[in-house]
Amino acid sequence: MASLSLQHSTHHFLSRALPTRSKPKPTSIRMSLQQNAPSIAVVGVTGAVGQEFLSVLSDRDFPYRSIKMLASNRSAGRRLTFENKEYVVEELTPESFDGVDIALFSAGGSISKKFGPIAVERGTIVVDNSSAFRMDEKVPLVIPEVNPEAMENIKIGMGKGAIIANPNCSTIICLMAATPLHKRAKVVRMVVSTYQAASGAGAAAMEELELQTREVLEGKPPTCKIFNQQYAFNIFSHNASVLPNGYNEEEMKMVKETRKIWNDKDIKVTATCIRVPVMRAHAESVNLQFESPLDEDTARDILKNAPGVVVIDDRESNHFPTPLEVSNKDDVAVGRIRQDLSLDGDQGLDIFVCGDQIRKGAALNAIQIAEMLL
Ligand SMILES: NC(=O)c1ccc[n+]([C@@H]2O[C@H](COP(=O)([O-])OP(=O)(O)OC[C@H]3O[C@@H](n4cnc5c(N)ncnc54)[C@H](OP(=O)(O)O)[C@@H]3O)[C@@H](O)[C@H]2O)c1
Repeated sequence: MASLSLQHSTHHFLSRALPTRSKPKPTSIRMSLQQNAPSIAVVGVTGAVGQEFLSVLSDRDFPYRSIKMLASNRSAGRRLTFENKEYVVEELTPESFDGVDIALFSAGGSISKKFGPIAVERGTIVVDNSSAFRMDEKVPLVIPEVNPEAMENIKIGMGKGAIIANPNCSTIICLMAATPLHKRAKVVRMVVSTYQAASGAGAAAMEELELQTREVLEGKPPTCKIFNQQYAFNIFSHNASVLPNGYNEEEMKMVKETRKIWNDKDIKVTATCIRVPVMRAHAESVNLQFESPLDEDTARDILKNAPGVVVIDDRESNHFPTPLEVSNKDDVAVGRIRQDLSLDGDQGLDIFVCGDQIRKGAALNAIQIAEMLL
């Protein structure tokens, strides 16, 4: 894990005493700082996803010859330590991308829209975490375990820049579990209900959930700056804007992104996205209707063998995936695998999925994409 001395008040949320990552920390001399490796920039390095980029880069020994730490002018000049080397956070400017091979963006959609094309002009390959380019036909939208072929023509050293989009975190977590089943029996309709954590709304939302929890327990009125309503001890519809059709933007991202990633305009998807007072990791209930029959035992076997997926499905002990168990983990956990009783002939399944959306839902997925560029 990255050694971060950045005094960000939320950092303890990002690495608190939850189950440790599945991958053991290497004890050998680090080989990731290499002269012939790409130069990297992390845009939004002080944020929840930016901090996780550093952890994942380090955990996976991602090779790099240099790394630029970029954020807004608010953070410029702050120091942080990464892999035993001290860095100064720089303000993001167009010149930041000079000589940069790969830029990992997580500073919000407006920053991506402004600086993504500037980076591409300077020959940088951008892996973007925002929604700015996801539905752009020319931009691949990639989950490496699901549709790696979408970016097969983009590589470091091809002499020009490009943008690759990371899907929405709820979409990634859902499709990690649904795709192996889709490949076997073809999903015709998918109904998703999400239970989304504070971390999905960034570092400030995590801070506010902790603050509100203390305030409510002390009988004080809760501070409501991020969501404009009480979050601790409450649940509410996702804070994304509500569109004229009654769906919110988060729900429509799941609908549209699934169609693009599965390359299937006819796939029927509907979603209800809810914010729950969980610090980190999203949960999703997913109902799948198939074209061909698929029984629950076969589905369980398929999921056990799916890359990046772990099955937690112990009916006897009533033990199924939880956000706490997947926090800081790479794998997406699937359980409650059962036949949908409302459909005849093994045509439907219900599953419950949990995934760390800062990790697989954002930073890990982006760095897996970056690995495919090498
Ligand atoms: N959290 C998640 O689970 C998740 C998952 C998938 C995608 N995303 C996407 O990733 C992006 C960041 O999310 P987050 O949760 O990490 O948010 P966050 O914790 O609020 O961090 C935002 C980052 O953006 C930087 N930033 C803001 N304005 C900037 C500017 N004008 N120039 C340069 N940098 C600027 C901030 O720097 P300062 O510290 O200087 O303000 C900070 O580093 C968003 O687009 C979000 O939709 C998040």
